Amino acid sequence: MSGHPAEPWRVKMVEPLRATTREYREQAIRAAGWNPCLLRSEDVYVDLFTDSGTNAMSDRQWSALMRGDEAYAGARSFYVLEEAVRTHYGYEHVIPVHQGRGGENILSRCLLRPGTHVAGNMYFPSTRAHQELNGATFHDVIIDEAHDPDDEHPFKGNVDLGKLKVLIDAVGAGTIPYLSIAATVNMAGGQPISVANLTEVAELAHHHGIPVFLDTARAVENAWFVKQREPGWADRSITDILRALCAPTDGAVMSAKKDSLANIGGWIGLRDPELAEQARGLVLLYEGLHTYGGMAGRDMEAIAQGITESVDEDHISARIAQVEYLGRRLHTAGVPIIRPVGGHCVCVDATATLPHIPRTQFTAQTLAAAVYLDAGIRGVERGGVSAGRDPRTGENRFPPLEFLRLAIPRRVYTQSHIDLVADSVIRVHRHRDRITSGLAFAYEPSHLRFFQARFAPVRGTSIWD
Ligand code: F0G
Repeated sequence: MSGHPAEPWRVKMVEPLRATTREYREQAIRAAGWNPCLLRSEDVYVDLFTDSGTNAMSDRQWSALMRGDEAYAGARSFYVLEEAVRTHYGYEHVIPVHQGRGGENILSRCLLRPGTHVAGNMYFPSTRAHQELNGATFHDVIIDEAHDPDDEHPFKGNVDLGKLKVLIDAVGAGTIPYLSIAATVNMAGGQPISVANLTEVAELAHHHGIPVFLDTARAVENAWFVKQREPGWADRSITDILRALCAPTDGAVMSAKKDSLANIGGWIGLRDPELAEQARGLVLLYEGLHTYGGMAGRDMEAIAQGITESVDEDHISARIAQVEYLGRRLHTAGVPIIRPVGGHCVCVDATATLPHIPRTQFTAQTLAAAVYLDAGIRGVERGGVSAGRDPRTGENRFPPLEFLRLAIPRRVYTQSHIDLVADSVIRVHRHRDRITSGLAFAYEPSHLRFFQARFAPVRGTSIWD
């Protein structure tokens, strides 16, 4: 199939992959409690569990590692990272953390108290978990289109300003310490927010004295969609657009394991010096000194170099095109996927694929296990299991979207791998009637349960007849 630009890199080092038999995979997934997250990675052929920390670093990043300054305090590598973040994202105060959720913990502890409210464009599990652990209630104010897998809206990550206004009127601006806005929106399938919408959201929030924090994990991918789809931005550089996305916000929490092409790391970016002081104080307690935040000096060097590579147009256009190619192959073959295809993943609509498996039997988790069984491809459930239980009622939450996410690591897989994935998912879809049982919890952890949960087939000994 045409339409896939050649990769703008060549392979310098290889990592062997091992193909397995169907019998082997049947045993492996059973031993993993039907949760692909608990598989050993050597039992996985193409690993699309996440694009987080799984990127291939460039030769320039590997050389940057050698420049890592491992001084405990005031490491040179910190200042290199600080400069890269200031230049590309525009935040004055840069506070390193070990990864995104480290930053979420610090920000939530600084600003949230029991009885407060946070609004955002759909939730992300670790982000919301930290907000809830600090006593806040999260409110989803994303546009309705984001909850419809078939809606072709170009900016399904946009905030519905009407919903935000209703919330502010209902709970009072004083009880909303901040807005938590993501670019792109992972749980909607990597969907972007427009610069215009984000700017309007910030204006409304600031009018009420509410600061806005951006989750910038995939903001470069968001910038690429802005360049393609938002009027007025086609001729601007990715760096310009990235800065335009960050400009109306008061700060950011970053997982450098995504856009920044690193294997670990993150940062908090802030404008308010007092909040920055408070955050640095907590970083000392929970992450490490405020000039390394749980990272080695070499990690900070790799991220700084990765940031400059991430905004390169050859890189970002090929990255998004590879994801789009997988989406197009599945869509053309009739596999129901979230449309339009997002920045980092293709999401197979599990309820449309397996309408005979009720959501109480974790439809997307079942589909994830089935896709692993077919050819050793690992995706992740994004639906009822990921949504967890409501902390107040204890009831399972079933968000409107229930999908299998196939997240594509950056610069790792070639077109033949992507074709192999497409062939396998199309095959599973064709044989979907043979998936006869859903799953029930055998072990349910209390937080972020999708990572460690174990399941058992509801009927019989397998999910597949
Ligand atoms: N925010 C978003 C939008 C994310 O996608 C993630 C992680 C985080 C925050 C947390 O960052 O992992 O560095 O602590 N997402 C990964 C994923 C785990 O697979 O989507 P982290």
